[in-house]
Formats: sequence, C-alpha cells, structure tokens
Amino acid sequence: MENSGHIPVMMQEVLALFAQYNKEPVSFLDGTFGRGGHCTALLKHYPTLSALGVDRDEAALQYAHDNYGDLLSSQRLRLWQGSYREYAEQMSATDIFDFILLDLGVSSPQLDDESRGFSFYGDGPLDMRMGRKQKTTAADVINTWSEEELIEIFKNYGEVHSPYRVVRAVVHDRKTTPFSKTQQLAGLIERVEGWRQKGRHPATQYFLALRLVVNTELEDLQVSLPLFIRALKPGGILAVITFHSLEDRITKNLFKDHLDIGQRMNKKVIIPTDEEIKINPRSRSAKLRGFLKTPAQKRDPTYYKD
Ligand SMILES: C[S@@+](CC[C@H](N)C(=O)[O-])C[C@H]1O[C@@H](n2cnc3c(N)ncnc32)[C@H](O)[C@@H]1O
Repeated sequence: MENSGHIPVMMQEVLALFAQYNKEPVSFLDGTFGRGGHCTALLKHYPTLSALGVDRDEAALQYAHDNYGDLLSSQRLRLWQGSYREYAEQMSATDIFDFILLDLGVSSPQLDDESRGFSFYGDGPLDMRMGRKQKTTAADVINTWSEEELIEIFKNYGEVHSPYRVVRAVVHDRKTTPFSKTQQLAGLIERVEGWRQKGRHPATQYFLALRLVVNTELEDLQVSLPLFIRALKPGGILAVITFHSLEDRITKNLFKDHLDIGQRMNKKVIIPTDEEIKINPRSRSAKLRGFLKTPAQKRDPTYYKD
C-alpha cells in the first residue's frame, strides 16, 4: 500500500480482532473501502475470503479499478458505489457476512487533494462532499444555514465551546461575499479566534463539524450499525475504527444495546501504539472496537425487507 497515499490504521490490531473468528471466513463487507488497504490485506491473509468494497467516493473506486484488476476479475473483490448507509438499508436476507469493517472518516488522498475542500492548508472550493452525487456542500451550509443552526453544529459536532463570534462574523460577511473557498473561511476563523494552541489550526474543529454535517457521518453510523450487526453471520465480527469522540460514543452505545445477540470483544477501546502514531500521525485519534455476534444466534427473519 506504499503508493496509495493512505496508510491503513491499526492493521495488526484489525487482523488480530478478526483472527478470533473460529471458522473459515468467506464473506467480508468493507463499508469504507478507501484505497483498499485493510480490504486487500484481509484478502491476502484469508485465501477463502471474498469482499464487497463500498465507498461513496468515485475516486476510491477508480483507484480500485486501476490497481486491483486481478481481484476484480476473479470476483474476490466486488465494488459498490454509495454510502454504506444506503447499502445497509437495501440489504436483503442473503446479504450476510463473516466480517464487516468500518474505518470511518476521510482518507489521506481526500484530505490531501485541495480540490476536495477538506483541508484549510490548501485553497480549494468549500466542498467537503465525499461523493460527488451528494447535493449539499460545505459552502451551502456556511452560506445558507441560520446563525442558530451554525452555532449548534459547531458546538455539537465540532465541540467548539464558544463559536458565537466566528458565526456572527460569517453571517455578517456572507451578506456581501458568499463563502466559496476554504482559505476564505479558515482565514476568518483564524482572525476571529487567533491561535490558542500551538500546532493546532483554530479552524480544525470548525472544519471537522462541517465535514460531519455535509456527509451526515454521525447519522449514517447510528442508522447503519444495528443493520450491520444483524447482517453478521452467527460468530461473525464487526470492527469499527473511529476518529472522533462522538463516533466512538455512538459505536460504544450501540454495541452495548446489542448485548442480547453478541458481545463486545474489547471492553477497553483499542488505540494505536506510540510507534504507529510516530510513523502515521493521522492515526493518533483512532479507536478500534469489535463486536462478536453470538455463535448460536438465530437471525430475525422479519428484520429484512426481501
Ligand atoms: C479512512 S478511509 C478508509 C481507508 C481504508 N480502510 C484503507 O485502508 O484504505 C475512509 C473511506 O470511507 C469513505 N466513507 C466515509 N464515510 C462513508 C459512508 N458513509 N459511506 C461510504 N463510504 C464512506 C470515504 O470516502 C473514505 O474513502
């Protein structure tokens, strides 16, 4: 994966989690395929395994077509473009998996491509959509949402304690010049907030909040996890890597809500080693949790709309 521009996070820990499966796995759903780092490593590790890779980003699937031709032509890898939530909501009773993985958030190639608008370091369009089919961009949110709505998202999703001055300045400035570029917004936040923490751009939490809203990331996780738990075969394993405390809380709570049909594989969340963080600083906020479906669990046939 050296040339993909994305280093898969906690690879050894993910492999160790799935290694607790006590049958030969044949089916794997990777809901956040990205550059296929985790997916192809699992396919290599388990010769019996076939994977369905889901991603809403056209560029991710194009990368797979360009680099994983052999896996695609042998059908060990199939691809599905769209949100994993859309996929989860249209699953039928025959869509069942030994392994399911969600490695949430954005990939390094998405962050590093300034034309995608995720980063305040380059100057790109204020976009932040993971998939081009999505309608709402970050510019739409910034230019059209009310002052109260903007305050709410920065507080709730960005965990910004006091976003009032930034939002007031946004609402003032957008009357004459709508926001269209990342630097325009990042510059305003920098002017209003100033640098409080060395090495941490003052726009970090604001950009994170916008990205979560534009891509309905928390809502998609909340809706999809129960569907994925139900789509596990008895004894199957769901692994979720989060990068944000709100995502981790949703995962932790939903695992807890399903203890009647499975168990948490790690009571204490798994985090990357210091060594991994040194090599890949983007892994520093990653958290891994696993859910094991009870081996004798019977699936509820009324759950699916087949
Ligand atoms: C952190 S990367 C995954 C990296 C991947 N595990 C690898 O090793 O290459 C997250 C990927 O998930 C995709 N993604 C995020 N949320 C999604 C969603 N709701 N539905 C489908 N894809 C999503 C993003 O477009 C991105 O490509």
